[in-house]
Amino acid sequence: MAAPESNTANPKPDAAKTAASGGGEAAKFVGTPAVGTSKAAPAAGLPTVGPAAGGINQRRRSLVWCAVAGFLGAWFIAFLRFFLPRTLFEPPTVFKIGYPSDYALGVDTKWQQKYRIWVDRTPDRMFVIYARCTHLGCTPDWKASENKFKCPCHGSGYDSEGINFEGPAPRPMDRARVELAPDGQIIVDVSQLFEWPKGQPSHFSDPGSFLNV
Ligand code: FES
Repeated sequence: MAAPESNTANPKPDAAKTAASGGGEAAKFVGTPAVGTSKAAPAAGLPTVGPAAGGINQRRRSLVWCAVAGFLGAWFIAFLRFFLPRTLFEPPTVFKIGYPSDYALGVDTKWQQKYRIWVDRTPDRMFVIYARCTHLGCTPDWKASENKFKCPCHGSGYDSEGINFEGPAPRPMDRARVELAPDGQIIVDVSQLFEWPKGQPSHFSDPGSFLNV
């Protein structure tokens, strides 16, 4: 009587048979899902790459395409930006600020934010102070209760006509060119400033530095 064959001597054919006969999970895959590494699967007529591996590959492909699309999109935007004009929007240097009758005696700060100026009216003239500290260029604050301009940076103080009297400011604040337009409005030109340099004659009475009122 012949001895029964041992299952451990040659397990591969049995495994292939089990897979071929549709035995649960083994019927789906044999070996690892990597392509070309399983010899039993092709021998049994089974797929060598399972659906899980196919899904991972699909997601990887999607990620790669997203990265490529993102890179090309950023590059295209940079390419278009190159042809757009690089414009710096600054306030105009010449502008109208209304009529002399719009201003009462004293300092008017309504144009400080828009044009960086104060309109100053005395009993006999009007002038426009350019709101820039002559120390290092900060914008001082008008302190109506103290009747003076005070620079927040290093403490320079100016009287109501912009003349320095305390702190490190070396000279009075500059004044912008003013003239009357044909319609009677005041035209201010902050590209032309009148100075009073330290130890030198003042230009605050030069033509164009004030209006008679
Ligand atoms: S910038 Fe005004 S005191 Fe220095």
